[in-house]
Amino acid sequence: MTEQIKKSTPEKTAFLGVYGCQMNLADAERMAGQLESLGYRRTEEMAAADLILLVTCCVRETAEDKVYGKIGEIKGLKRQRPSLLFGVAGCMAQKEGDALIKRAPHIDFVLGTGRTGELGRVVRELEAERGGPVVDTGDVTGPIAEGCPVARRTPLSAWVPVMYGCDNFCTYCIVPYVRGRERSRRPEDIRREIQEAVAQGYREITLLGQNVNSYGKDHKQADFADLLRLADDVPGIERVRFMTSHPKDLSRRVIEAVRDGHHICEHFHLPVQHGSDRLLKAMNRGYTAAAYRAVVEEIRAAVPGASLTTDLIVGFPGETEQDFEALLDLVRAVRFDAAYTFLYSPRSGTPAAKMDDQVPDEVKRDRLHRLMAVQDEISRAINERLRGQAVEVLAEGPSQNDPAVWTGRTRTGKIVLWPHEAEIAGELVSVRVAEPQTWVLKGVLEQGA
Ligand code: SAH
Ligand code: SF4
Ligand code: F3S
Repeated sequence: MTEQIKKSTPEKTAFLGVYGCQMNLADAERMAGQLESLGYRRTEEMAAADLILLVTCCVRETAEDKVYGKIGEIKGLKRQRPSLLFGVAGCMAQKEGDALIKRAPHIDFVLGTGRTGELGRVVRELEAERGGPVVDTGDVTGPIAEGCPVARRTPLSAWVPVMYGCDNFCTYCIVPYVRGRERSRRPEDIRREIQEAVAQGYREITLLGQNVNSYGKDHKQADFADLLRLADDVPGIERVRFMTSHPKDLSRRVIEAVRDGHHICEHFHLPVQHGSDRLLKAMNRGYTAAAYRAVVEEIRAAVPGASLTTDLIVGFPGETEQDFEALLDLVRAVRFDAAYTFLYSPRSGTPAAKMDDQVPDEVKRDRLHRLMAVQDEISRAINERLRGQAVEVLAEGPSQNDPAVWTGRTRTGKIVLWPHEAEIAGELVSVRVAEPQTWVLKGVLEQGA
């Protein structure tokens, strides 16, 4: 019978290419949900899909280059199959709008970041009548699209956006322009989404926002500490994660919520960006290196064993060798578990792009390598201390590269690998660390933790 149904209504498929940060992953799941409601099944085969949607990022030039490459690839597909529907959403769509169509006329629709809830309508209209391209970048600070169906990609760990937008305007960053002003979801909507995820079998949730500490400043119904406690109390939840916290306003209350929570993971992603006070000021980050270190002290005193990760930018305009040394000093002093290191990329429309003293590429690259060497050594040394110890891991499943090796994460967010022994996806297990490395811990399965 199903065969018959298939023949009478051939299944439509959609390919989603998702770039950038977790916010985009979460938005993409909401857009995929709308496409499923319209009868599209998600496919990994871009060339055969009836609809292609790119959910894009523009935080650095390299991110944009990747998307332009993909847009070029799709041109040929569109020529072979004009019925293919091709849309671009996400941050680049917001930033470029009409300009994307001018550059690539084979795009059928452009959807801004405040308009993700409109995807279903736009696709339905284009299915009914294929006129000219649709560009809907509307109000970047558009209303939060509540009630969208969510088609999650991962089986165990669910992204739960708690707020959208950013009001911080760091001088290098495009995000506030393409994501609009800060808007917080209502606590009851967040609780409902977590409850639904748990009912569907999710064991872990990650509360997402560009700056989660600002949560609730608009509606004042709850702050982020309240939200952590709310998530911690949802029956059946195993782990609660959150990102990103801004160092300038990580509150004592949030640190205490992590300390007191049963399920809240002891991991703080606290981007510091730089270690030179002069540059932190030029970046408009709102804290000094000493103030940052004081927050780290507070975290470590309240939550012993917490892991700390960060983002670092090298080559911000005017960065001198002395500034760079201050960055290395901070990195050596704080000892991050891991750092995501970026080359400064000028973004037009941001204040830093217009600053004098842009740092030459080769100087940036040289500094990046020196920074990575220092950080890698620290990451390796920190992980080395776990040699021989048993860590609690939420087993996820076979690793991407080798199905004989299983993977999962510790509460502190470290990736653990072990030889496959049993089908234990979704279980909390104990793994004894045998071979700690810079980015992963290799170990042996012990028993259920
Ligand atoms: N809201 C988060 C992260 C936003 S973007 C926060 O404030 O921490 C993720 C990271 O990209 C930033 O932390 C920063 O390190 C980096 N980034 C942002 N703009 C950049 C630029 N123009 N060039 C290089 N890196 C950038
Ligand atoms: Fe960008 Fe700064 Fe906002 Fe983070 S806090 S998104 S780095 S402007
Ligand atoms: Fe990129 Fe937008 Fe995230 S610019 S980093 S996808 S908020």
